[in-house]
Amino acid sequence: LENGVARTPPMGWNSWNTFGCNINETLIRQMADAMVSSGLRDLGYQYVVVDDCWFNPNRDSAGNLQGDPSRFPSGMKALGDYLHGKGLKFGLYEVPVDKTCAQYFSSYPGATGSQGHEAQDARQFAAWGVDYLKYDWCSPNGTINDQVATFAKMRDALAATGRPIVYSINPNSIHAKTGPQRNWGDVANMWRTTEDITNAWDTGQANGYPMGIRNIVDVTVPLAGYARPGAFNDPDMMEVGRGGMTDTEMRSHFALWAMLASPLIAGNDLRSMTSATQAILKNQNLIAINQDTFGLQATQISNDGTRRVLAKRLSNGDVAVALFNQGSATTTVSTTAAAVGKSGASFTLLDAWTGATATTTGTISATVPSHGTTVYRVSGGGTGTPSGATTLVSAASGR
Ligand code: DGJ
Repeated sequence: LENGVARTPPMGWNSWNTFGCNINETLIRQMADAMVSSGLRDLGYQYVVVDDCWFNPNRDSAGNLQGDPSRFPSGMKALGDYLHGKGLKFGLYEVPVDKTCAQYFSSYPGATGSQGHEAQDARQFAAWGVDYLKYDWCSPNGTINDQVATFAKMRDALAATGRPIVYSINPNSIHAKTGPQRNWGDVANMWRTTEDITNAWDTGQANGYPMGIRNIVDVTVPLAGYARPGAFNDPDMMEVGRGGMTDTEMRSHFALWAMLASPLIAGNDLRSMTSATQAILKNQNLIAINQDTFGLQATQISNDGTRRVLAKRLSNGDVAVALFNQGSATTTVSTTAAAVGKSGASFTLLDAWTGATATTTGTISATVPSHGTTVYRVSGGGTGTPSGATTLVSAASGR
C-alpha cells in the first residue's frame, strides 16, 4: 500500500502471543520500558501493538470507542503519549465486524467492532496518536470480494485522517483462509498469510489452526512475488523466546522471518528474556537483511524435501542465502553463487550467526543441524537473476 509507511517490514512487539486478553496499561508500559532498556528499540523495534481486549464494550454517548476503564484507566491517548515519549510507536487492534475475535476464544464478552463506524473510529485512532492498526477479520463466511471491500473501507478511512498509519490486516482468522489466494498489496501494508502461529516448530498442518513455524514457511515462500516496500506478507508475530522450541528452531524461525521480509513483531515477554532469546532478536546481520530497502522476499532456489535454499537480493548487490535443513538429522546444505544470481570468480561469505567470514570461488555450503538455518551474506562479483527464481524476480523488476 502506497501510504508512505512500512517501506521496510515493520518491527515491534505485540501483546497477543504471551498475554492474550490479560493486558492493561501497566503491562504495556513495562513492555515499552523493556523495549528501550534491552536495546531492542535502538535496533529498529518500534511499534508496541496492543492486541485484542483493550476495549470498553460500550461506545460513549457520541458513539466513540473507549478503552476498558479498569484495564486502561488513563485512557488510550495517554498510552500513546507514553509510547511516543519513549521514542516508540503506538499500535492498536480492531475488527471490521461487530465484535472482536476474543468472543470466540474466551469468556471475554466481545467488544465494539468498527462495522458502520469506520470513519469515526479512524479519526479516533488518529486523535489517540495511533501509528499502526491491526485489523482482524474475525467473521465467518467471508468471500474474497467482501473481504476486499471491507478491508478497503478502513484503508480509505485511515487515509482520510491524514495521519500515517501502518495498516496490518488479517484476512485469515476464523473460518476464512483467503489470504494466500490474493496479493493484498493494494489494500494493506501487511497481511497475514495463515491462521494463527503457535509456539511449536511443526503442527503438521498445511493451513489450519494453529500453525507451526515450518508450516507457515511452506505457505509463505510461494508468495515472494507480492513483497515490496509498503507491502509485505505477514507470517504472524514471532514465537521466539516463548519456549516450545529448541534454540536451533528459534534461530531458524528468526532467520526465515528475516529472509521472508516478514514484519519482525516479537511476541515474547520482553521483561524476562534469556540471553539466547536476546541474541536472536538482536542479530544485526539478520535485521539488516530483513530491513533491506529493496523490500524483496527471499525466493526458493531449491528444495529436495530436506534441504531448502532461499536467496534474497539486497540493495548493495549482496545476496543473502539461507541454507535450511528441515530434516531430522544433521546434513550438508549446498548451493552455488551462480544459482543465487552471483557472477564472478570469488566471493565473501559472512555467516550471519557467527559473524565469521570466509571466501569461496562458488560453492556455498554449510553443515546444518536438524531444523537449523545457516545464513550467509554473499558479497563480491556481480549480481543478476537467481537461476531458480526467474518469475518471482521479474515480478520485482527494478530492484
Ligand atoms: C486472531 C488473530 O489471528 C490473532 O493474532 C489475535 O489478534 C486474535 N485474533 C485476537 O483475538
